[in-house]
Amino acid sequence: MSQAKLAAGRRAADLVPDRSTLGLGTGSTVRFFLERLAERIRDEGLEVRGVPTSIDTETVARELGIPLVGLDEVDLLDFTVDGADEIDAEYRMIKGGGGALLREKVVASISRREVIVVGRDKVVERLGTTFDLPVEVVPFALPVVARQIARLGGEPRERQAAGGGEYRTDNGNAVLDVHFEGGIEDPEALELTLAATPGVVECGLFLGLADAVVIADDDGTVEVRE
Ligand code: 5RP
Repeated sequence: MSQAKLAAGRRAADLVPDRSTLGLGTGSTVRFFLERLAERIRDEGLEVRGVPTSIDTETVARELGIPLVGLDEVDLLDFTVDGADEIDAEYRMIKGGGGALLREKVVASISRREVIVVGRDKVVERLGTTFDLPVEVVPFALPVVARQIARLGGEPRERQAAGGGEYRTDNGNAVLDVHFEGGIEDPEALELTLAATPGVVECGLFLGLADAVVIADDDGTVEVRE
Protein backbone atom coordinates (compact mmCIF):
# COMPACT_ATOMS: atom_id res chain seq x y z
CA MET A 1 0.00 0.00 0.00
CA SER A 2 1.24 3.52 -0.81
CA GLN A 3 1.55 5.65 2.33
CA ALA A 4 1.63 8.78 0.16
CA LYS A 5 -1.67 7.96 -1.55
CA LEU A 6 -3.25 7.07 1.79
CA ALA A 7 -2.10 10.32 3.41
CA ALA A 8 -3.15 12.52 0.47
CA GLY A 9 -6.56 10.90 0.11
CA ARG A 10 -7.37 11.09 3.80
CA ARG A 11 -6.26 14.71 4.12
CA ALA A 12 -8.48 15.75 1.22
CA ALA A 13 -11.48 14.14 2.93
CA ASP A 14 -10.79 16.28 6.00
CA LEU A 15 -11.07 19.40 3.81
CA VAL A 16 -14.60 18.56 2.61
CA PRO A 17 -17.14 21.15 3.84
CA ASP A 18 -20.35 20.01 5.52
CA ARG A 19 -23.56 20.15 3.42
CA SER A 20 -21.69 20.07 0.12
CA THR A 21 -22.25 18.43 -3.21
CA LEU A 22 -19.11 16.60 -4.26
CA GLY A 23 -17.43 15.33 -7.37
CA LEU A 24 -15.96 11.92 -6.62
CA GLY A 25 -12.87 11.22 -8.75
CA THR A 26 -11.41 7.87 -9.71
CA GLY A 27 -8.31 5.87 -8.81
CA SER A 28 -6.43 4.33 -5.91
CA THR A 29 -5.71 7.65 -4.16
CA VAL A 30 -9.37 8.65 -4.40
CA ARG A 31 -10.25 5.28 -2.86
CA PHE A 32 -8.52 6.40 0.37
CA PHE A 33 -10.42 9.69 0.15
CA LEU A 34 -13.73 7.82 -0.13
CA GLU A 35 -12.93 5.64 2.87
CA ARG A 36 -12.14 8.65 5.07
CA LEU A 37 -15.18 10.51 3.74
CA ALA A 38 -17.38 7.57 4.75
CA GLU A 39 -15.83 7.66 8.24
CA ARG A 40 -16.69 11.35 8.55
CA ILE A 41 -20.26 10.73 7.39
CA ARG A 42 -20.62 8.00 9.99
CA ASP A 43 -18.74 9.61 12.90
CA GLU A 44 -19.43 13.34 12.44
CA GLY A 45 -22.78 13.22 10.68
CA LEU A 46 -21.24 15.03 7.68
CA GLU A 47 -23.98 15.73 5.14
CA VAL A 48 -22.74 15.35 1.57
CA ARG A 49 -23.83 13.83 -1.71
CA GLY A 50 -21.52 12.87 -4.51
CA VAL A 51 -21.40 12.52 -8.28
CA PRO A 52 -19.13 9.58 -9.17
CA THR A 53 -16.78 9.84 -12.18
CA SER A 54 -16.69 6.12 -12.95
CA ILE A 55 -18.56 2.88 -12.42
CA ASP A 56 -15.71 1.79 -10.09
CA THR A 57 -16.14 4.86 -7.90
CA GLU A 58 -19.92 4.48 -7.95
CA THR A 59 -19.61 0.88 -6.75
CA VAL A 60 -17.16 1.74 -3.97
CA ALA A 61 -19.17 4.78 -2.85
CA ARG A 62 -22.35 2.69 -2.64
CA GLU A 63 -20.52 0.01 -0.62
CA LEU A 64 -19.24 2.70 1.76
CA GLY A 65 -22.67 4.28 2.18
CA ILE A 66 -21.82 7.62 0.54
CA PRO A 67 -25.04 9.22 -0.80
CA LEU A 68 -24.97 9.69 -4.57
CA VAL A 69 -26.73 12.05 -6.92
CA GLY A 70 -26.98 12.38 -10.72
CA LEU A 71 -25.93 15.30 -12.88
CA ASP A 72 -29.60 15.90 -13.70
CA GLU A 73 -30.09 16.93 -10.07
CA VAL A 74 -27.15 19.31 -9.62
CA ASP A 75 -26.07 22.44 -11.40
CA LEU A 76 -22.63 23.05 -9.91
CA LEU A 77 -20.52 20.95 -7.58
CA ASP A 78 -19.06 22.57 -4.46
CA PHE A 79 -15.94 20.45 -4.16
CA THR A 80 -14.32 17.68 -6.21
CA VAL A 81 -11.47 15.42 -5.20
CA ASP A 82 -9.62 13.56 -7.93
CA GLY A 83 -6.22 12.01 -8.60
CA ALA A 84 -3.74 12.68 -11.40
CA ASP A 85 -1.08 10.81 -13.32
CA GLU A 86 1.15 13.87 -13.66
CA ILE A 87 0.88 17.45 -12.41
CA ASP A 88 3.19 20.39 -13.11
CA ALA A 89 3.95 23.62 -11.25
CA GLU A 90 1.02 25.37 -12.97
CA TYR A 91 -1.36 22.58 -11.88
CA ARG A 92 -1.67 21.37 -15.46
CA MET A 93 -2.28 17.63 -15.44
CA ILE A 94 -2.34 14.40 -17.34
CA LYS A 95 -5.23 12.20 -16.21
CA GLY A 96 -6.92 9.09 -17.51
CA GLY A 97 -4.62 6.33 -16.30
CA GLY A 98 -7.76 4.66 -14.99
CA GLY A 99 -9.70 5.45 -18.16
CA ALA A 100 -12.17 7.80 -16.46
CA LEU A 101 -10.94 10.99 -18.13
CA LEU A 102 -14.18 11.94 -19.89
CA ARG A 103 -16.43 11.85 -16.84
CA GLU A 104 -13.64 13.32 -14.71
CA LYS A 105 -13.34 16.30 -17.05
CA VAL A 106 -17.10 16.85 -17.18
CA VAL A 107 -17.22 16.84 -13.38
CA ALA A 108 -14.15 19.11 -13.09
CA SER A 109 -15.75 21.58 -15.50
CA ILE A 110 -18.71 22.16 -13.16
CA SER A 111 -16.75 22.13 -9.89
CA ARG A 112 -16.29 25.32 -7.92
CA ARG A 113 -13.23 23.80 -6.29
CA GLU A 114 -11.17 20.97 -7.80
CA VAL A 115 -8.73 19.43 -5.33
CA ILE A 116 -6.12 17.01 -6.67
CA VAL A 117 -4.61 14.26 -4.50
CA VAL A 118 -1.21 12.87 -5.45
CA GLY A 119 1.97 11.31 -4.16
CA ARG A 120 5.01 13.50 -4.78
CA ASP A 121 6.18 11.17 -7.58
CA LYS A 122 3.36 12.58 -9.77
CA VAL A 123 4.84 16.10 -9.72
CA VAL A 124 6.75 16.77 -12.95
CA GLU A 125 8.51 19.68 -14.62
CA ARG A 126 7.07 18.86 -18.02
CA LEU A 127 3.89 16.93 -18.82
CA GLY A 128 4.33 13.71 -20.75
CA THR A 129 7.78 12.85 -19.39
CA THR A 130 6.74 10.04 -17.03
CA PHE A 131 3.26 9.15 -18.31
CA ASP A 132 1.81 8.74 -21.81
CA LEU A 133 -1.20 10.90 -22.66
CA PRO A 134 -4.51 8.97 -22.69
CA VAL A 135 -6.85 9.93 -25.53
CA GLU A 136 -10.41 8.52 -25.54
CA VAL A 137 -11.45 7.64 -29.07
CA VAL A 138 -14.59 6.31 -30.77
CA PRO A 139 -13.56 2.74 -31.76
CA PHE A 140 -14.59 3.24 -35.45
CA ALA A 141 -12.17 6.15 -35.75
CA LEU A 142 -9.14 4.51 -34.10
CA PRO A 143 -6.93 4.18 -37.23
CA VAL A 144 -7.78 7.69 -38.40
CA VAL A 145 -7.03 9.28 -35.02
CA ALA A 146 -3.86 7.20 -34.59
CA ARG A 147 -2.51 8.45 -37.95
CA GLN A 148 -3.41 12.05 -37.10
CA ILE A 149 -1.62 11.78 -33.74
CA ALA A 150 1.45 10.33 -35.45
CA ARG A 151 1.47 13.39 -37.75
CA LEU A 152 1.56 15.54 -34.60
CA GLY A 153 4.70 13.71 -33.47
CA GLY A 154 3.05 11.35 -30.96
CA GLU A 155 3.44 7.59 -30.78
CA PRO A 156 -0.04 6.14 -30.10
CA ARG A 157 -0.55 2.70 -28.59
CA GLU A 158 -4.04 1.23 -28.20
CA ARG A 159 -4.73 0.36 -24.56
CA GLN A 160 -5.43 -3.30 -23.89
CA ALA A 161 -7.63 -4.75 -21.16
CA ALA A 162 -5.85 -6.23 -18.15
CA GLY A 163 -5.23 -9.83 -19.18
CA GLY A 164 -5.34 -8.88 -22.88
CA GLY A 165 -8.10 -8.09 -25.33
CA GLU A 166 -10.11 -5.01 -26.12
CA TYR A 167 -10.09 -2.17 -23.58
CA ARG A 168 -13.23 -0.05 -23.38
CA THR A 169 -14.01 2.91 -21.12
CA ASP A 170 -17.24 3.24 -19.11
CA ASN A 171 -18.56 5.07 -22.18
CA GLY A 172 -17.75 2.20 -24.58
CA ASN A 173 -14.78 3.94 -26.18
CA ALA A 174 -11.17 2.92 -26.85
CA VAL A 175 -8.09 4.65 -25.42
CA LEU A 176 -4.86 5.52 -27.20
CA ASP A 177 -1.95 6.08 -24.82
CA VAL A 178 0.28 8.52 -26.64
CA HIS A 179 4.00 8.88 -26.03
CA PHE A 180 5.63 12.20 -26.81
CA GLU A 181 9.40 11.82 -26.80
CA GLY A 182 10.82 14.44 -24.44
CA GLY A 183 7.35 15.34 -23.14
CA ILE A 184 4.59 17.65 -24.40
CA GLU A 185 5.94 20.94 -25.66
CA ASP A 186 2.71 22.95 -25.74
CA PRO A 187 -0.14 21.29 -23.79
CA GLU A 188 -2.66 24.07 -24.58
CA ALA A 189 -2.08 23.81 -28.34
CA LEU A 190 -2.17 20.01 -28.23
CA GLU A 191 -5.47 19.99 -26.32
CA LEU A 192 -7.05 22.30 -28.90
CA THR A 193 -5.77 20.21 -31.81
CA LEU A 194 -7.03 16.97 -30.28
CA ALA A 195 -10.41 18.51 -29.45
CA ALA A 196 -10.74 19.47 -33.13
CA THR A 197 -9.89 15.95 -34.37
CA PRO A 198 -12.98 13.96 -35.47
CA GLY A 199 -13.21 10.70 -33.55
CA VAL A 200 -11.49 12.05 -30.43
CA VAL A 201 -13.95 12.08 -27.53
CA GLU A 202 -11.63 13.63 -24.93
CA CYS A 203 -7.96 13.79 -24.04
CA GLY A 204 -6.31 13.47 -20.65
CA LEU A 205 -4.87 17.00 -20.59
CA PHE A 206 -6.56 18.87 -17.71
CA LEU A 207 -5.51 22.50 -18.00
CA GLY A 208 -6.68 25.31 -15.75
CA LEU A 209 -9.03 23.02 -13.84
CA ALA A 210 -7.23 22.37 -10.52
CA ASP A 211 -7.61 24.83 -7.64
CA ALA A 212 -5.54 23.06 -4.98
CA VAL A 213 -3.20 20.10 -4.74
CA VAL A 214 -2.69 17.77 -1.79
CA ILE A 215 0.80 16.29 -2.20
CA ALA A 216 2.03 13.55 0.11
CA ASP A 217 5.38 11.87 0.65
CA ASP A 218 6.01 8.23 1.41
CA ASP A 219 6.58 9.03 5.09
CA GLY A 220 2.99 10.33 5.27
CA THR A 221 3.90 14.04 5.34
CA VAL A 222 1.26 16.11 3.55
CA GLU A 223 1.52 19.49 1.86
CA VAL A 224 -1.61 21.37 0.74
CA ARG A 225 -0.89 23.83 -2.08
CA GLU A 226 -3.52 26.43 -2.95
C1 5RP B 1 -8.35 7.94 -13.70
C2 5RP B 1 -7.43 9.00 -13.27
C3 5RP B 1 -6.79 8.85 -11.92
O1 5RP B 1 -7.15 9.92 -11.14
C4 5RP B 1 -5.30 8.77 -12.08
O2 5RP B 1 -5.02 7.68 -12.96
C5 5RP B 1 -4.58 8.60 -10.77
O3 5RP B 1 -4.83 7.33 -10.23
P1 5RP B 1 -4.12 6.80 -8.92
O4 5RP B 1 -4.61 7.60 -7.79
O5 5RP B 1 -4.57 5.34 -8.85
O6 5RP B 1 -2.63 6.89 -9.11
O7 5RP B 1 -7.19 9.98 -13.93
O8 5RP B 1 -8.82 8.18 -14.99
